[in-house]
Amino acid sequence: MKLVKKLGLGLAILFLLAQLVRPERANPPAPTTLDAPPEVLSILRESCYDCHSNETHWPWYSHVAPVSWLVAHDVDEGREHLNFADWSSLDARARRELGEEIIEEIDEGEMPLWFYTPLHPGSDVDADELATLRKWAEGL
Ligand code: HEC
Repeated sequence: MKLVKKLGLGLAILFLLAQLVRPERANPPAPTTLDAPPEVLSILRESCYDCHSNETHWPWYSHVAPVSWLVAHDVDEGREHLNFADWSSLDARARRELGEEIIEEIDEGEMPLWFYTPLHPGSDVDADELATLRKWAEGL
């Protein structure tokens, strides 16, 4: 067999074997919806909820290794840092601090993560949306 063919076959087998390693992609129960004005909620839902809530949408490619590993990792880490499902259990100070961080992260272009926006049209937070979020965060 030609080397290229062997390599291709090897990669195909690796790819298939990788599918056996399936990360956890569960959505834990989401106790309450975030208590925020509807226009704020809709921005957060569209741009942040896939990684920062228990209401993640798992697209088809999130079931295909190795992408599945990366996606599951981001969701795990994202939820650890900020999970809107836990918002109602935070005290006023924690909410204010998180609100500030949310605005900062978006303002600096850190959030949503850079590879997320091209895959999810409309998830980019534009200036108007940021202004809406800022008003909400400053009132927390
Ligand atoms: C594709 C997944 C993903 C999306 C979408 C996403 N985030 Fe994140 N976010 C993460 C991950 C992973 C981390 C933790 C690692 C890091 O800071 O890069 C994080 C961290 C954060 C933090 C905490 C930073 C810190 O230093 O603790 C804030 C605040 C945040 N994100 C806000 C948002 C907001 C607001 C949106 C929507 C506009 C959003 N994120 C969208 C994955 C995501």
